[in-house]
Amino acid sequence: MTVSRGREFLSIPGPTNVPDQVLAAMQRPAMDIYAGEMVGITDACLKDLSAIFRTRGRTYIYAANGHGGWEAALANVLSRGDQVLALASGRFALGWGEMAKMLGAEVEVLGGGDWRRAVNPAAVEERLKRDKAHAIKAILVVQIDTASGVVNDIPAIRKAMDAARHPALLMVDAVASLGCMPFDMDGWGIDVAMSGSQKGLMTPPGLAFVAANARARKVHETANLRTLYWDWTFREGEIHYQKYCGTPPEHLLFGLRKALDMLLEEGLDHAIRRHALLAAATRTAVERWAEGQVLAFNIPNAAHRADSVTCILMQGRSPQPLLDYCRDKCGVVLGVGLGELTDKAFRIAHMGHCNAPMVLGTLGAVEMGLKALAIPHGSGGVQAAVEHLGREVEA
Ligand SMILES: Cc1ncc(COP(=O)(O)O)c(C=O)c1O
Repeated sequence: MTVSRGREFLSIPGPTNVPDQVLAAMQRPAMDIYAGEMVGITDACLKDLSAIFRTRGRTYIYAANGHGGWEAALANVLSRGDQVLALASGRFALGWGEMAKMLGAEVEVLGGGDWRRAVNPAAVEERLKRDKAHAIKAILVVQIDTASGVVNDIPAIRKAMDAARHPALLMVDAVASLGCMPFDMDGWGIDVAMSGSQKGLMTPPGLAFVAANARARKVHETANLRTLYWDWTFREGEIHYQKYCGTPPEHLLFGLRKALDMLLEEGLDHAIRRHALLAAATRTAVERWAEGQVLAFNIPNAAHRADSVTCILMQGRSPQPLLDYCRDKCGVVLGVGLGELTDKAFRIAHMGHCNAPMVLGTLGAVEMGLKALAIPHGSGGVQAAVEHLGREVEA
């Protein structure tokens, strides 16, 4: 017997659920790309994205996924042979660093590729102090590493750079955090920030966003890894067609416009609090389950757990039967473990267009699976999540 028919619950950490209103907004004919409504949509999206990044710098929209956003960020500010420091805290800063290496930078990974801890700002300060010649030109860090479920303290990393009096650019990946957790590009002294459409911003995959402050744009003037497709200067041209270095991805932009309207209507601060609450409810359930000594948080330090995704270790057994059970019997799709955590962990997303029944439904399916598969766990996880939300959501 299964109870999987009904709306599938996509509980993976990206792409996330696309609201029906966003899908509906995409259901329209193509339009002129040189004048009229499309130009207005671009201007409005750029203005709102800058507000969400919280920057007075410039924002660029690319027809690309997150990897494209990474390459856009790197190619605009680096020169061949530049030294780059990637701050490891899971999979994604490593991936960004690998990309920088292939583009022609000299990449050093700090942190030894630790998947269970946030970046240590003191180690960043120590490393930068040793770089007396200021050979390191950029620091790559991910605010939320979607693979490990960690959130890094970006203001503390900025402080560490300042304490070392180091002029490297601070480049931050906000793919799994923008619209989900506080982000303040100018306030935190971030030089280049990037993100994608498919997580907190509730839009189908295919758009990447990069924001650059005045310092980064100055470095850009002499960077020699620039290529036409990613180039900020070209995209700053007057002609609308240049803003995308070609035909705009119109339908994704129609969807993005609607998603930004929805986000701003809810209020960015409210959306961030909603994420915090749903994340806390999820963690409450996981804490109970962990009493059975098989499940455990991948990030032991509670202060370093992200509000958009929770990564749960399965000690001594594969999570695959649980993932299969949730998908096939209940219609809930959970995230698999990535990289070092392949077949060792699973992930529950609480990111983007997501509300209490979606999270409670997902937790309910996991708890059903734990019982059905006789995986040792503390009982009452879902009940604890319900009670947590009941306390926090005012009547
Ligand atoms: C934090 C982070 N950065 C970058 C990426 C890469 O994005 P994409 O898969 O769209 O290329 C991802 C993808 O999940 C991510 O989670």
